[in-house]
Amino acid sequence: MALQNDLILRVARGESVERPPVWMMRQAGRYLPEYRAVRARAGSFRNMIANPEFAAEVTLQPIDLMGTDAAIIFSDILVLPEAMGLPYVMEEQRGPVFPEIISGTPDIEKLHLPSASSNLNDTLEAIQIVKEQLSGRVPLLGFAGAPWTIFAYMTEGKGSKTFSRAKAHLYQNPAFAHALLDKITDATIIYLTQQIEAGVDMIQIFDSWAGLLSRDAWLRFSLPYIQKICNAIQGVPKIIFAKGAFYALKELGECDAQVIGLDWNMNPMEAKKQIPGKALQGNLDPCVLYGDEAEIRRQTLQMLSEFEPGKHIVNLGHGIYPDIQPDKARVFLETVKSYRY
Ligand code: CP3
Repeated sequence: MALQNDLILRVARGESVERPPVWMMRQAGRYLPEYRAVRARAGSFRNMIANPEFAAEVTLQPIDLMGTDAAIIFSDILVLPEAMGLPYVMEEQRGPVFPEIISGTPDIEKLHLPSASSNLNDTLEAIQIVKEQLSGRVPLLGFAGAPWTIFAYMTEGKGSKTFSRAKAHLYQNPAFAHALLDKITDATIIYLTQQIEAGVDMIQIFDSWAGLLSRDAWLRFSLPYIQKICNAIQGVPKIIFAKGAFYALKELGECDAQVIGLDWNMNPMEAKKQIPGKALQGNLDPCVLYGDEAEIRRQTLQMLSEFEPGKHIVNLGHGIYPDIQPDKARVFLETVKSYRY
């Protein structure tokens, strides 16, 4: 099916565009009343992911209701540890919790690569439904967590300000850390390959917790695994979003990925210098969307002026927050969509 709007793919391929494409991380989420309604019908966040019809419905909401230039499949990065044998629950107000965690080398033996009948099939089926229902309106993004970010949840067991338990392994038993990171990497390559076979047009790797690490630790425990994934995954454009990795823009730019995501602490001018010629994604502070319309327009136009025309996929610097009014997000999206190079 030929795509009617392929702006995001054109930027990734280095082709010319008349305006920058725009989408929002977490665009299918609680800020939309329509999302909350589906969630209520499904009973829980986990049920939405486990039921491909619900997942497909909320994936399409931002396309129909907000007019974003790309869809991102509704799922979670933590479905992968579950497919490897480490289940998790999503606790209200608290976020993801793993009842059992990985704390040493013997635990790694208990983990397996995703089987043909794993929970990942729910998301793969949702991808097929979404592709059909989109009928080429916009491209569909698949995604996975970066191995370090997945490692952080599997060893910490829950969200944390410091992830000190996860980080302690890097210094106490680096061989264990590398063995677990290796296994997560192999599983991620399988999962992303399956997503591409199911129909995604592009993928994003989320290293949400890159910023917890020093430059040195990130170069040792995150970058090599991201590189391994990028080298293994071919055929669709790749975006790497490593939140907080301002210290390694050059190394990110050297990966086999077409687009590098920036968070709002990263300076687009500095990124352009360190990654010349590559497409960048980002990076409006999601909190700008608490401002009034004029302020949102001003901040969005300022951001647009800091990126290179034709080398920019517009996004927020991280996911949209649940208490943002959809109309405020629309001001952001419309400002970008009426901009011309
Ligand atoms: O619209 C999209 O971006 C697609 C769907 C998506 C979700 N999670 C849905 C979600 C994507 C791409 C993710 C990725 C994800 N999941 C990341 C990486 C991105 C990032 O934000 O850095 C991480 C770290 C997770 C793990 C996770 N999932 C956490 C920590 C939480 C709890 C925090 C929260 O916002 O409540 C989730 C829950 C989650 N994932 C929600 C959604 C829409 C909210 C769940 C709900 O409806 O209650």
